[in-house]
Amino acid sequence: MPYDANLNFVFWSPTKVVFGENTASDVAIEVESLKCKKAFIVTDRDLAKNTDIPERIKKALGHLSVGIFSDVEADSGIHIVNQGAKIGKELGADCIVSVGGGSAIDTAKGIAILLKEGGKLQDYAGFQVLTRPQTPHIVIPTTAGTGSEVTYIAVIKDHEVGRKLLFGDYNILPSVAILDPKMTEGLPPILTAATGMDAMSHAIEALHSLQKEPIADGMALHAIKLIKQFLPRGVKDGKDMTARGQMLIAANMAGAAFSNAQVGIVHALAHTVGAKFKVHHGLANSILLPACLRYNADACGEVYLEVLSALGVSIERIRPDEAGDIAANKLLEFTEKLGLPQRLRDVGVPEEGLKECSELALSDGAIIYNPKFISDSAEVLKVYQQAW
Ligand SMILES: [Fe+2]
Repeated sequence: MPYDANLNFVFWSPTKVVFGENTASDVAIEVESLKCKKAFIVTDRDLAKNTDIPERIKKALGHLSVGIFSDVEADSGIHIVNQGAKIGKELGADCIVSVGGGSAIDTAKGIAILLKEGGKLQDYAGFQVLTRPQTPHIVIPTTAGTGSEVTYIAVIKDHEVGRKLLFGDYNILPSVAILDPKMTEGLPPILTAATGMDAMSHAIEALHSLQKEPIADGMALHAIKLIKQFLPRGVKDGKDMTARGQMLIAANMAGAAFSNAQVGIVHALAHTVGAKFKVHHGLANSILLPACLRYNADACGEVYLEVLSALGVSIERIRPDEAGDIAANKLLEFTEKLGLPQRLRDVGVPEEGLKECSELALSDGAIIYNPKFISDSAEVLKVYQQAW
């Protein structure tokens, strides 16, 4: 899409990306290249309980490993970050290796802050509060979706006051991301599909964001192409290493795109039903995406033509004003084939909860980047109702 002559933007994605099957076994090389000697593994409870992945990483680190913290849960909280940081400090950790999905990676970003700065994590919430680089952090994702390995964002829940804190800071961008397809091999089909649709939402939201820019556009469009081609394969056969690898790349590119361009209404609405009714983040995005595209359609016709083209649709005969609706229908077809639920009512959201969500969603930080300005909760409610 053409940009005005007065375009200006910053693109910042300094994380080193290492890709390839079994590259996680070389994690020690990355620790040494960061000039660190005491790596502290942060991982989630399920992964430690049900797989040997954390132990394999510990073995690969050899004498460079000082220990594993495996108490991270979904929707990780400040108390877990505090616990992890206390143990990391006692062990004298000088770098973190996080292994897991978004929750483990974000928890590790929090621990990275406390190991460096001390004090209370809550004091560092917000945007660009930190003034110096934090503890070196190597990420090994075990899902292909969040892109958190290349984003400057961490979302950590304050369970005491029942809300999610947002940390947006260039100083918490991970140092290295190791994308090893073998690490996502055991992910069940439903989680493969849901996390993959999180990446799809990042890519589409980066494209329609008010802060969109050409470098992020390029990454987002390529990510959509890869997801369209390889997510169905990865869902059908989890051992398809080509599909697993290409999905890790897609999630990574979509992550770098939205870390710069931001997200919009889809994430604002998904965060809210996620916090209120514990809907899986990727699933919430997947369900809300079509209704949000229809909502934005009159403001984003040209953008949605590009999305359609990336989805493999011939756009010659499609007018910009029809593009949002057609893209929404294509995405519904796509998620139906993936076997994902398509309505909020199917994932435990009660109809009577929608009104409160529509009011809360207006104060989510993502909504300010949506291409259409939204200040009326009645408009949000209509979107929720359509997805319900
Ligand atoms: Fe997301």
